[in-house]
Amino acid sequence: MAAILRRRFLQQSMAVGAGISAELAPGRWLPAQSTKASPAMAARVYVDTKRTIAPIDRNLFGSFLEHLGRAIYQGIYDPGSKLADANGFRKDVLEEVRALGVPIVRYPGGNFVSGYNWLDGVGPKQGRPKVLDKAWNSLDSNQFGTDEFMAWCKIVGTLPLMGLNLGTGSSEQAAALVEYCNVEKGTQWSELRRKNGIAEPYKVKNWCLGNEMDGPWQIGHMTATQYGLKAQDAARQMRYVDPSLTLVACGSSGPLMPTYLEWDREVLEQCYEYVDALSLHRYIGNTPAETGRDSGKFLAMNLTMDRQIAETGAVCDYVRGRMRSPKQLWLSFDEWNVWYRKRNGDDMNGREKEAPPLLEEVYNLEDALLVGGIINTLLRNADRVKLACLAQLVNVIAPIMTSANGLYRQTIYYPYSWGLQMARGEVLNVLTDSPSYEITGMGKVPYLDVTGTLSKEDGKVCLFILNRDLADAHEVELVWEDAAPARVITSTVLTGNDLKATNGFDAPKRVVPQELSKPVTSGERTKFEVPARSYTALQWSL
Ligand code: AHR
Repeated sequence: MAAILRRRFLQQSMAVGAGISAELAPGRWLPAQSTKASPAMAARVYVDTKRTIAPIDRNLFGSFLEHLGRAIYQGIYDPGSKLADANGFRKDVLEEVRALGVPIVRYPGGNFVSGYNWLDGVGPKQGRPKVLDKAWNSLDSNQFGTDEFMAWCKIVGTLPLMGLNLGTGSSEQAAALVEYCNVEKGTQWSELRRKNGIAEPYKVKNWCLGNEMDGPWQIGHMTATQYGLKAQDAARQMRYVDPSLTLVACGSSGPLMPTYLEWDREVLEQCYEYVDALSLHRYIGNTPAETGRDSGKFLAMNLTMDRQIAETGAVCDYVRGRMRSPKQLWLSFDEWNVWYRKRNGDDMNGREKEAPPLLEEVYNLEDALLVGGIINTLLRNADRVKLACLAQLVNVIAPIMTSANGLYRQTIYYPYSWGLQMARGEVLNVLTDSPSYEITGMGKVPYLDVTGTLSKEDGKVCLFILNRDLADAHEVELVWEDAAPARVITSTVLTGNDLKATNGFDAPKRVVPQELSKPVTSGERTKFEVPARSYTALQWSL
């Protein structure tokens, strides 16, 4: 059995690893041919507070916790730890996630969910079975389950995004979980919840109908039509229990899947009218196959996610047109990150251990810069993408890493935290005139990737700027087309000389944000410089 599992892991790693569009796949990658003219080049950014793209849904900056490696056990739940509270929750992690302000957390998987029986994880803890999780070949004690997750969410101040098992699980079991969570009393599963000590229903709104069902690595993998029918049936049964649910169907797990977009079309042909959104997943790597290990290309890879969003949205709209449906689906980018180092063999195989250290990617500066670029991509697609999850949150391809004695913040923590803290209100449709460089298969890539947000409620305007130039700083001139802001509140940058620099328990502050000298505004124009290899966040009061 282990051999089959390993093969499955490898299949998965190849498939999820291949997260770039075919056009950008391996091959003849030429070094950047710069169109720049001088060492500190001028870019111009036009901001008009009347020109906006869409309101920002807070769920755009969600995250993800899977029963995988040390994410749950030793990550957020560690009853034996000196750092745990009375529930067994790690207090330091609770504080960190609460301070980040993560609005929604997807749970319990991931690949794990496709073999998960939620009934194993509820009720008296001593009666819960220890099971073999076949997705990651790990042992799960089931000491943390639905009720513990809901309690954790409440303390953190986040919402649950519940994943359902549509692999080995049935529509009936999915509807039973909805009943357990959302019905007040008087039914079999609501009474079980009450017997387990929880009188009030959780009222979980958002649900994922399975996980990556297009992938041959997925437990219960099936054809698109089979899955579309199953999703339709699950959606119907779940809505009989609670008509107010928001449901996300599984889209393609990445642009290099052979069934990319075909899968999405065929699934939606079966369940379009029954769901609210379609999921996208994406993991970007900096391997010879993906980028030729060229940092200039790697830092442009967020643009391929803009394309993935456009293509997937187009398929949704195609099916909508064919069905003459008044409803437009939104997109749930419910797994995204950089991930390529810990994606093979031992890093993916739990060897039948409890809480084995799996997928413990250590992130460097250039990973963090790309994560900043992805934040920009998600923001400028906020008209279509209403929910997205940084995968994952703790220990497993994560911004937060724990040991028995504490935690540290990985490099990618910072751009994610800026999105969470500063991107409020609406996304501005900023126009950027930037020098560019050439990338084979992608054409001209602008050095500067700029997005902006405007919160009339808070009276704040923000800009987020990725400078992809590996060698030079860029001068930026902001043209405020209606009114210039009053005062700079935040001016911070993540940068450094060594793109490969990382944080760790030995050096938790090697890569941290620095203060950027405050931009100066004169009349309707603001000038400042962004360093080479940098991601900058600027915030003004209006
Ligand atoms: O996030 C790690 C894994 O990546 C998830 O379990 C799966 O959905 C994806 O392939």
